[in-house]
Amino acid sequence: MAVTAHAKLDARKLRADFPIFEHDIRGKPLAYLDSAVSAHKPRQVLDKLRNFYETSYANVHRGVYTLSEVATAEYEGARDKIARFINAPASRELIFTHGATESINLVAYAWGLDNLGPGDVVVVTELEHHSNFVPWQYIAKRTGATFKAIPLDDHGELQLDALGEIEQAGNVKVVANNLVSNALGTINPIEKLSAWAHERGAIMVVDAAQAAPHHAIDVQELGCDFLAFSSHKMCGPTSVGALWGRAELLEAMSPFNLGGHMIRSVKLEETTWGQIPFKFEAGTQPIAEAVGFGAAVDYLTDIGIGAIEEHERELLVYALEKLAEVPGLTAYGPAPERRAGIVSFNLDGVHPHDVAQILDMDGVAIRAGHHCCQPLMAKLGVAATNRASFYLYTIPEEIDRLADGLQKAHKLLA
Ligand code: ALA
Repeated sequence: MAVTAHAKLDARKLRADFPIFEHDIRGKPLAYLDSAVSAHKPRQVLDKLRNFYETSYANVHRGVYTLSEVATAEYEGARDKIARFINAPASRELIFTHGATESINLVAYAWGLDNLGPGDVVVVTELEHHSNFVPWQYIAKRTGATFKAIPLDDHGELQLDALGEIEQAGNVKVVANNLVSNALGTINPIEKLSAWAHERGAIMVVDAAQAAPHHAIDVQELGCDFLAFSSHKMCGPTSVGALWGRAELLEAMSPFNLGGHMIRSVKLEETTWGQIPFKFEAGTQPIAEAVGFGAAVDYLTDIGIGAIEEHERELLVYALEKLAEVPGLTAYGPAPERRAGIVSFNLDGVHPHDVAQILDMDGVAIRAGHHCCQPLMAKLGVAATNRASFYLYTIPEEIDRLADGLQKAHKLLA
């Protein structure tokens, strides 16, 4: 028997933490296989939000009264634990944003506009979510830099041997890649890319939105310069996320959003900026959401990210076996040991939206679409795929229901 390094998680027991599973969908129990789009919220997070609003809420860093001090301590406490979660060297390197998309836009604008120009090269990959593709494409165009994408092979892995040709295009200044692909689940070689980027004097920007909920993150081991992630995929509230960045880079950067709280002094002649992280936190922040994000990190830490990853890998192996029995099904993505708990697939002759609607009639929720990855879809030669994704509360019976629904969709529509 395989020896596991982590206490196994008990998904059935954990499901009891999630009130959503007490509600039927179309008279059937919910089989939620769309956690990659957003994860459900446990009572521990919901209770924390309610309790914070009921007992500790005030604006932060603005009041000298007790309640504001309590709220500020909760908000900064959340920053500390989220920074620890990714092994950031210092909490002040962790900026609260509205999500991974805003985090990447912050770097693209605040770093990119000042540091990119003609002759420079911005490198992304064909596997990026639009949030780590479009901002870079746009800023490259605005600054006159060249925009390049690392191609994918047929298994959904990056073709790193293309880097030699890519660097012929000019001075590589940015490499931007996801740690885990939201569409295929591929776990990408960030350490290698960081080393390659740094050898060329470039920065490494990591989109960890799909990694942070499922895969242990250590920014120091990854060797990256910036890392973006969102709370809502990690059992936390929506509208809050984080950007981690190396202090020396953040300190040298211009601000992104301008307004209250991010300043040192404002005069008619000139405004100067506050210290990090506040320089990047203009206006009233998503305060309760940040506190809820901290509670989500506590929840995941208590279960153990290693245990979550192992649970998802078991489900992935099981799902790939079950899906292989469905006639006319093409599954995309690398081998199970090279990816997180995500399966993208198509049923021959059936539009992904029709597949998802048939499954929905039985209470099974999966995603259908391009998953904000149109360059990947073009590479796969399809307009869209179906995608089932798993999390700590997913149980094998839900995968059985997925496979039964797919058999039904094949019979009805193929
Ligand atoms: N990034 C989200 C997904 O993968 C929206 O579906």
